[in-house]
Amino acid sequence: MAGAPRVQRLRAAAEDLTWTVADVGHRAVTAAGAAAHVDAVRAVRPSNRRRTERARAAADEILAANAEALGGAPWAAGRLIPTDGDVAVLEAGPVGGGSQALIKVAATGAAGVGMAAQQRVLDALHADNRLGEMRRLVPGVLAGGSYRGLTYLIEARLPGERLDAVLPDQATRTCALQSALDALSALHAGTSIDGIADATVRAGLVGEPIAVLAGAVGPLPALDRVALRLTTAFDDVDVALGRTHGDYWHGNILCTPGGHVTGIVDWEYSRADDVTALDVMNFLVTLRMRERREEYGTVVVNMLTDESWSDGEEELLERSAGPRVDREVGVANVALATWLRHVTDMLERRPDFGTHRLWMRRNVHAVLGTVG
Ligand SMILES: Nc1ncnc2c1ncn2[C@@H]1O[C@H](COP(=O)(O)OP(=O)(O)O)[C@@H](O)[C@H]1O
Ligand SMILES: [Mg+2]
Repeated sequence: MAGAPRVQRLRAAAEDLTWTVADVGHRAVTAAGAAAHVDAVRAVRPSNRRRTERARAAADEILAANAEALGGAPWAAGRLIPTDGDVAVLEAGPVGGGSQALIKVAATGAAGVGMAAQQRVLDALHADNRLGEMRRLVPGVLAGGSYRGLTYLIEARLPGERLDAVLPDQATRTCALQSALDALSALHAGTSIDGIADATVRAGLVGEPIAVLAGAVGPLPALDRVALRLTTAFDDVDVALGRTHGDYWHGNILCTPGGHVTGIVDWEYSRADDVTALDVMNFLVTLRMRERREEYGTVVVNMLTDESWSDGEEELLERSAGPRVDREVGVANVALATWLRHVTDMLERRPDFGTHRLWMRRNVHAVLGTVG
């Protein structure tokens, strides 16, 4: 009897976790990297205050349902952490005992699929002895699954603040960026083999994402040009194949105030046997986005025409594990492959981006138009 209103309440919570159409513009900008500003604007919106309350109520119910896995003491959800996706992230911990974990609740079916994937990845990483000590940077799963139709994940909280918080300080910046690349290299070096971009690898790098993009933009001739260019460039090239993070950018990396990495979060796009160079390129593209306040597509368009690295970028590339694929196939081609993966991952998990004209124009069509 008591179950029915509760289910209704949770359904309402799930609906309310979803961004409204009016928010899509904000989301597109956030995804483009201007997150701090947008979050400040978002926090004062009344509809978001209501959504926060709904998200907290849903999280509290899920925490109560998992009391046993969480040690028996009653837990409560705390502060809502701003995100750029269809997932509500809240601090959580024993009542009166501070924040020990993060509870993530998916607001859409696609976000739920991503969250279930993330749980499998986190479990696989912790079970992978090749990673040794590096695993202390990976969140442990305290609980996860589906509760009355809502997919959720409760992760142990890793210490530290977002890496971008320390980047403005020039003294800390170099250490922070190098530490981020070292952590990524530990992931790659521990899990990768010297491989070749054979037909199977090229299918994952080119054929499959091109098919996803065709689903979003239709059968444009530019897609054939991108596919031909990447297939030719990567044809049987030496590449390291291993575990990738899939969304390695400063917003998913935590560090100490001195710039030493303490955690890597948000593993939903991680793959087991992928071209590890894509993670390194994604890190550098998103760093340029932050510095130049440009969108992903704009940075990649520039890389397609000017393949030079700054001294700082070159230094970071030298720290990365595996062969320098950018030297073998050219910076532009690695950037193009990384972009293709990025936009198609986004379109798969957040289908509404496909209908956001500004996002599509700047991040998809701008790049397609540059590939001659
Ligand atoms: N396990 C964790 N420990 C500490 N902070 C976390 C953890 N998981 C997420 N966060 C914080 O919450 C933010 C959003 O979580 P994330 O999983 O990256 O969501 P999104 O998919 O929206 O980017 C992260 O940028 C990070 O600051
Ligand atoms: Mg994230």
